[in-house]
Amino acid sequence: MNICFLMYPWEQITPEADSTLALIHECVKRGHGVAMCTPSNLTIRNSVTNAFCRVINRAEKISNSPKSFYKKVTLRDEMLPLAGFDVIFMRSNPPLDPIMLNFLDSVNDDVFIMNSLNGVREANNKLYTAVFDDPENEIIPVTHVSKNKDYIIKMIKESTSDKMILKPLNGYGGSGVILIEKNAMLSINSLLDFYINKSDGTTDYVILQEYIEGAEKGDVRILMLNGKPVGAMKRVPGEGDHRSNISAGGSIAKHTLTPQEKKLCRKIGPKLVKDGLFFVGLDVINGKLVEVNVMSPGGITYINKVYKTRIQEKVIDFIEDEVQVKSNAFKRKAKLRKTVEDA
Ligand SMILES: Nc1ncnc2c1ncn2[C@@H]1O[C@H](COP(=O)(O)OP(=O)(O)O)[C@@H](O)[C@H]1O
Ligand SMILES: [Mg+2]
Repeated sequence: MNICFLMYPWEQITPEADSTLALIHECVKRGHGVAMCTPSNLTIRNSVTNAFCRVINRAEKISNSPKSFYKKVTLRDEMLPLAGFDVIFMRSNPPLDPIMLNFLDSVNDDVFIMNSLNGVREANNKLYTAVFDDPENEIIPVTHVSKNKDYIIKMIKESTSDKMILKPLNGYGGSGVILIEKNAMLSINSLLDFYINKSDGTTDYVILQEYIEGAEKGDVRILMLNGKPVGAMKRVPGEGDHRSNISAGGSIAKHTLTPQEKKLCRKIGPKLVKDGLFFVGLDVINGKLVEVNVMSPGGITYINKVYKTRIQEKVIDFIEDEVQVKSNAFKRKAKLRKTVEDA
């Protein structure tokens, strides 16, 4: 099959740790054609959606380690029509560029896109957790989202807990996630102004969330493939920080899913599949879901290392199966059409 990775630039890859490189390497090892392009390289050529791609040249021998594969592989530049690919694997970093999705809308019927466009549209920010019905807050923490400063302050005051988390709706990598303490409210007005009223005159939503006890011991990243967990790891905050993101200094440890985490996966898995969110990363703290990462979930290489697994194999197996189903349906349709035409 031919697969196009819509992703960050090739030069930005850290070969030892990059999950997208692990996926690309797996595809190339299996003999699939691989091209890469960035969202800004999408182009419409006379009403046909194309991309300026970097295509991986086929080679006789493919290195076994992603690092030497990255070093040795040669690329060529080609402008290619997206509908000619079997798969588009979106692996671009947040924030989501809505125009990118509009480009992809034009090829949605021709190509298997992972994750699905509608799923990514729905789940690209932290509002998505509100789609899960959980009145007792067993799996979703108490969460308020608003642009209304007075409402947020009222919610902090009414909270039974002394600590809360404040974060931007569209943040990632731990940026802007801060701890609020009820007995230190002097800066809250200024903080909310900063989060809500942007310097360019626009406004943003802010999230106020219960502080989940146990967060100081770390959070859990669960990779979900087709609605089921395929790997997990613990991320522990670095010295002097409350956030566990690796980009915020967190470190990795082994993690076996607890019964509560397994229950969480069972509860949300079917909805993820229904939304076409086939490969996502859940951020879970003490059994509660804080975020569903749908754009370019990482963690494959770390989990592979601590568990001696190869998660990329499972992901590419899944894609191959999906492409097979699509191609069988296409062949069946062609055969039936022929029967009718010949009648
Ligand atoms: N409700 C919360 N309680 C405790 N810690 C939290 C909470 N929300 C976020 N954190 C900490 O901040 C980190 C980043 O938060 P997250 O919501 O995943 O945003 P991001 O998109 O920036 O990763 C989490 O991994 C966790 O360590
Ligand atoms: Mg996160």
